[in-house]
Parts: sequence; C-alpha cells; structure tokens
Amino acid sequence: MEKRGKTERILDIKDLRVSFHTYAGEVQSVRGTTFHLNKGETLAVVGESGCGKTVTSKAIMRLLPEPMPAEIKEGSQIMFDGKNVLDMNEKELRELRGSDISMIFQDPMTSLNPTMIVGKQIAESLIIHRGMNKSEAMAEAVKMLELVNIPNADKRARQYPHEFSGGMRQRAMIAIALACNPKILIADEPTTALDVTIQAQIMELIGELQEKLGTAVILVTHDLGVVADVADRIQVMYAGQIIERGTVDEIFYNPQHPYTWALLQSVPRLGTKNKDVLYSLHGTPPDLIKPPVGCPFAARCEYCMEICKEAMPEVTVLSDTQEVSCWLKHPMAPKVEVPEILKRGEM
Ligand SMILES: Nc1ncnc2c1ncn2[C@@H]1O[C@H](COP(=O)(O)OP(=O)(O)O)[C@@H](O)[C@H]1O
Ligand SMILES: [Mg+2]
Repeated sequence: MEKRGKTERILDIKDLRVSFHTYAGEVQSVRGTTFHLNKGETLAVVGESGCGKTVTSKAIMRLLPEPMPAEIKEGSQIMFDGKNVLDMNEKELRELRGSDISMIFQDPMTSLNPTMIVGKQIAESLIIHRGMNKSEAMAEAVKMLELVNIPNADKRARQYPHEFSGGMRQRAMIAIALACNPKILIADEPTTALDVTIQAQIMELIGELQEKLGTAVILVTHDLGVVADVADRIQVMYAGQIIERGTVDEIFYNPQHPYTWALLQSVPRLGTKNKDVLYSLHGTPPDLIKPPVGCPFAARCEYCMEICKEAMPEVTVLSDTQEVSCWLKHPMAPKVEVPEILKRGEM
C-alpha cells in the first residue's frame, strides 16, 4: 500500500503547542506534536472530535486568531520548504496561503461565495496566482472542473454554488484549492457532511489528483474507515498529542495503542458481527484545561495500569515508520496482544 520514494520532507513540525485563552482557563488544544509530511504523500490525521486536528491544520496556515484567543507557544516550529511559518510576515503568509498550501473544510458552503458563479471563483485564483487573463482563466477553470470529474463542466462553470449538490460543491472546492497549484493540500474532514457513496467518490478523487499532480495531502478525519485506500501514513491524535503513527499497513494490521484499537473497532469490517465487538470506546476525552499528568487515554483504557495515571509514556520506536506512546510497550509491562478481532477480517 505504501508508495515508495516519498521521503523528501516538505513540512516539518516540531513540538507544536497551541492554547486558547478562555474565561474558563487555558485550553491546551495542541500539546507538543512533532510530525512531518513528505513531498507527494498523503498523511492521514485521525482521532475523535476535539483532539486537536483542526487546530493543528489551521496553525500550519496561521489561520488561527493569534495572539488572542489562540496562542502558538514559544518553541513551536513549522518548517515549510526550509522556512519557519511562525516567523513569516504578512506578505510571506499571503504567498503561503495563496499558492503553497491550500485547505478545504467539511462544509464547502462556508468557503464558496454564494453570489459568484463557480467558474469565476476558480478563475480568480488563476488570475491572481498564475497570472492568466480573464478568458484564459475561465477556460482553465472549466478544465479544473473536468479534472475533479464534474460532468458538463462548461455549463457548470456558469452556475452558482446553490445549484450544485453537496458532493459537487466539495469537488468545486477541491478545484479552487488546487487552482493555485499548491504543494500541500490540507483536507479537514472533507467528506464528513456527505453520504457514504459520495464520501468514497471524493476520497477516490483526492487519491487520483494526488497521483496526477503530485500534491502532498494532509487528510484530517475522525473516521479511520475512509483513509485506508488513499493514505500512505496515518497518525493518531488524542487530547492534543500524537499517540501512534505508522504506515497504513502498520496501523491497520499491527496497531499497538489501545486507542488505535478502539478506533479500528469502530470501522466496519467484513466478517465482523456485532457480538464480536470486544473493545469499544466509552466516556469522553479529557478536559484540555486540566490535561491529565499521565497518559491522556488512561481513564478510558481497558489496560490501564497505575503508572499510566502517573506519568506520560515514552515514545517506543517499532520500525522506521511506526511509533507508539504507551506504557504497555515498556519491557517490564505485562504482555498484551493485539485483540484477536483486529487480526481477522479483510479491511
Ligand atoms: N476558538 C476556540 N476557543 C476555545 N477552545 C477551542 C477553540 N477552538 C478549538 N478549541 C478547543 O481545542 C480542542 C481541539 O479542537 P479541534 O482542533 O477543533 O478538534 P478536532 O478538529 O480534532 O475535532 C478542543 O478541545 C476544542 O474545544
Ligand atoms: Mg475538526
């Protein structure tokens, strides 16, 4: 499943910490995440709602309202193409957002302009960022709509967003995001608002475009089920931290963190019946105003030991690509095998 040769880093994030200052206190949304994105690869970021996926994504593009209420902590680093995004001035940030990194969100209606025909919205970006004139840009906009598999692109380009179905709007958003030929596309829950069949089509489209254009993709989702076919690597986030990462095969066939097990359990698999569900997720993630001192998952973990509540586990390196933060990996911890149910059944 993993595509080879994609090892040149385009994005390198070190110890990213982001807090929100609220009346109730400081919400520590992202608590020291370190990860990278290789040129041309698809990295999936998965985890339940509220674990810091969107805040991480927005921080990369400096789209958070800083310094208030959001604060990116001193010492955080977001290196893009050799430059720290956190040191960029307004002009550099405009360039970054306009042509280097694009982001699409769950609800395309919030980003599409309801008063402008779709073709023109794509064309605008082409005029600004690729120096085309109006008619060139409009012709290219139609091509972009064809690229994202919108039928009758010529006619569709002259329609308004409300004339599009949900799936087509998301395709149009992808066309707009790709119009400036970005090096990175961040897709934040791009299919969550869509029904299952359309979800699969959009995921397939993202995979296709990524192959065709070589764009690196960060695919953010709460649903592990949608990433298997498109991602190269997966990182699992919990309570503002990355608790496990690996290639798609490692995460699906050799997951090591009980939280990853729980997420995988919620993915429907062939040959799995309801009675087979041995492990499911109860309770809610911890309060990020007072995050626990130990493992953030301890309170919900079936395998929780005393130590888990007292100290954060170290990172255990399992392969060149797989790492996990869990006390069960300590040499003196009791042996806990990957639940049998996760070993069976084809994805
Ligand atoms: N504007 C904000 N003010 C206060 N807290 C926020 C704000 N935005 C996000 N948060 C908090 O930060 C945490 C991470 O949020 P988010 O990144 O949106 O989660 P995800 O995208 O994984 O669902 C959550 O606990 C959320 O409540
Ligand atoms: Mg989110």
